[in-house]
Amino acid sequence: MGAIPSDIIGRSAIGRSAELDALDASLDQLEHNGVAVVFAGQAGIGKTTVWAQVFERAAQRGLRVLSCRTAEAEAKLAFASLADLLEPVADSILPLLPEPQRTALDVALLRTSPRGALPSARAVAMAVLAALRLLALTSPLVLAVDDLQWLDRASAETIAFALRRVGNWRVGVVATLRAQDHAAYDPLRLDAAFTGRIKRVQLGPLSLSALHHVIRSHLGHVLPRPALRRITEDSGGNPFFALELARAFIEAGGPLRPGDPLPLPETLSGLVSHRLERLPAQARELLLIAAAMAAPTVDLVREAAGGLDERSLRRAEQARVIEISERHIRFTHPLLASSVYSSASPQMRRETHRRLAAVIASPEERARHLAPPRATTCARAGGGGPAQRSISFTPATALTRAYCSRAFWPSRRWVRSAPRRYICSARFGVTRTASPPRSHIWRKRSSMQMDRA
Ligand SMILES: Nc1ncnc2c1ncn2[C@@H]1O[C@H](COP(=O)(O)OP(=O)(O)O)[C@@H](O)[C@H]1O
Ligand SMILES: [Mg+2]
Repeated sequence: MGAIPSDIIGRSAIGRSAELDALDASLDQLEHNGVAVVFAGQAGIGKTTVWAQVFERAAQRGLRVLSCRTAEAEAKLAFASLADLLEPVADSILPLLPEPQRTALDVALLRTSPRGALPSARAVAMAVLAALRLLALTSPLVLAVDDLQWLDRASAETIAFALRRVGNWRVGVVATLRAQDHAAYDPLRLDAAFTGRIKRVQLGPLSLSALHHVIRSHLGHVLPRPALRRITEDSGGNPFFALELARAFIEAGGPLRPGDPLPLPETLSGLVSHRLERLPAQARELLLIAAAMAAPTVDLVREAAGGLDERSLRRAEQARVIEISERHIRFTHPLLASSVYSSASPQMRRETHRRLAAVIASPEERARHLAPPRATTCARAGGGGPAQRSISFTPATALTRAYCSRAFWPSRRWVRSAPRRYICSARFGVTRTASPPRSHIWRKRSSMQMDRA
């Protein structure tokens, strides 16, 4: 989704001065040539918070930012992220592109139906390259991508193609990646595009003093030192965990004697479910519908639920589980969406997808809902089965489908045997997510085909 939620704009990144220095240095360099900076780390460590500082800092320097925040549920929707990135400039840039690039990009972004043959992948990529150059003519350009690991493949390959060719134009990338190991995943092939001009910054734990400030600024509470020390230890300096612990601690009330355990669930998943369970049943039902969708809106949730008491959604908003902006719903953190989805029974998930298939207009996403969920995260990431292959598509989405059909498809065997990647350190809980091995995702290098085309 493209919109930057208000909760991350204007919030400072406490205790991250080294990371912000790296960002500043990259933005300064961008005034001369292309650069990239990637912030990596575990879920909840504060990547998005640091990344979001790019907006204000770029504005101070007169740089233009095009941004997108990917979502797990959109990872299989072709060109979803590219559409978000280009949305603010599409109307002004597209008319300046030569045919057939203009048509190719228009079709890829589902702004128009193809006339005759489908535009080639290369035409779309050339159009993106031309658009980036045009934009960089007036001021340096930053592509800001949050959560690279969920960038849809069609967008990733197209942007990677363009970045490798922007050369010394002042186009840069500021991105985040949920990973412990930087080398593990490079969907935009930044290493090749920005050789010698790329910074990879691993985010580590926050100190006790930084967490004290984070808790005070988010929850308006100053915790007693023993509680703060325990929260720092138990969270391992992860601010998302620390905030969940602090929230639960404040609600539980009562003093903490030295040596006492925190009166709280022991795992992150336990903490998050504890928070969600306190919401009314209808709010949880609506949250499940939203968590199963790529781009939830109040109206779509209402349709899928067959009516809606908006107060239930507002309760979830007050509990800071979701944020509603211009009728669009966004979970305040992807871990909350994952938790809502994975805590529902398989039957509830199936029923939710069935209802969504009846109301979703996009054939591509509808196909995803028609396919029975096979494994928790694969389902949310767009997993499906034969239904996706047999669904009939309209001409307007044919190109999208062509990309989609090349997407990673987990086999039953892989789903069973997939190595599981901990989204939090083993010390803090058991919340885990299956992630496809890199070799599976990038098995087909269609960008190489583009190069040869
Ligand atoms: N340096 C920080 N200063 C203030 N709040 C932070 C900081 N780092 C993280 N947070 C808070 O912790 C939570 C998780 O941070 P987030 O940036 O979403 O993590 P990630 O993107 O790594 O999953 C958010 O509520 C965020 O506001
Ligand atoms: Mg994030």
